[in-house]
Amino acid sequence: MKIAILGGTGKLGLSFARRLQQTPHEVAIGSRDISKAEQAARKAGGAVLGMTNSDAARWCDVALVSVPYDGHDSLFENLKDVLRGKIIIDATVPIAPENIFQIKTVSGKSAAEETAAIVSGANVFAAFHTISHRVLRQVEVSHDVLVAGGATGKAEVLDLIRSMGLRAINAGQLQIAGHLERMTALLLSINNSNNIKESGIKITGV
Ligand SMILES: NC(=O)c1ccc[n+]([C@@H]2O[C@H](COP(=O)([O-])OP(=O)(O)OC[C@H]3O[C@@H](n4cnc5c(N)ncnc54)[C@H](OP(=O)(O)O)[C@@H]3O)[C@@H](O)[C@H]2O)c1
Repeated sequence: MKIAILGGTGKLGLSFARRLQQTPHEVAIGSRDISKAEQAARKAGGAVLGMTNSDAARWCDVALVSVPYDGHDSLFENLKDVLRGKIIIDATVPIAPENIFQIKTVSGKSAAEETAAIVSGANVFAAFHTISHRVLRQVEVSHDVLVAGGATGKAEVLDLIRSMGLRAINAGQLQIAGHLERMTALLLSINNSNNIKESGIKITGV
């Protein structure tokens, strides 16, 4: 498959690129700025491509999204026509600017549900909220990735995450996404309380 990382020049996006390089998939890093995308693609190495977010969204089968929440809704408003019918995996955490231990969205729903409302006809999944980019970039280490979203396209998403050397956990429908986004706030509080940067979530019994 063709995988575009929208907002791929950032911390999480570059870790996605590293993981995806180990898979058979074609990978493009997207950015608002083509020169930034090409620079990030060179940094990622291998056959990773650099494109504008809009070219990457048009090119891909699956869009992995890693942008700050304040750019989230405008990104999808701009790309909704080219993303229609595609798989979108949204890692955005709508952290409240005034308090990083809380989440806050415009609609009161999760960021991923806002994505689904904007991009009608896309298969939207929420994932990667409980894994730090610092951990993700250690490509030899497996971690749990909780995934919320509907049935259509879910098998492909779970397989894609497994191909990245990670343990994909089906967490249910997209309405669960808010719980995943809030888990990031929990992990940030655990990090803060223990003077660490990489706490994560492991699911037992699955
Ligand atoms: N970092 C983590 O460990 C982690 C873990 C789980 C989830 N997340 C979530 O994943 C998302 C990305 O995190 P990150 O740490 O990678 O963030 P980041 O490094 O601050 O930003 C990622 C990229 O987003 C693009 N961007 C910034 N502002 C934008 C805007 N207003 N509109 C469109 N694009 C914009 C930038 O790319 P260009 O300038 O090249 O366009 C930037 O390189 C956040 O929602 C975060 O909460 C992060």
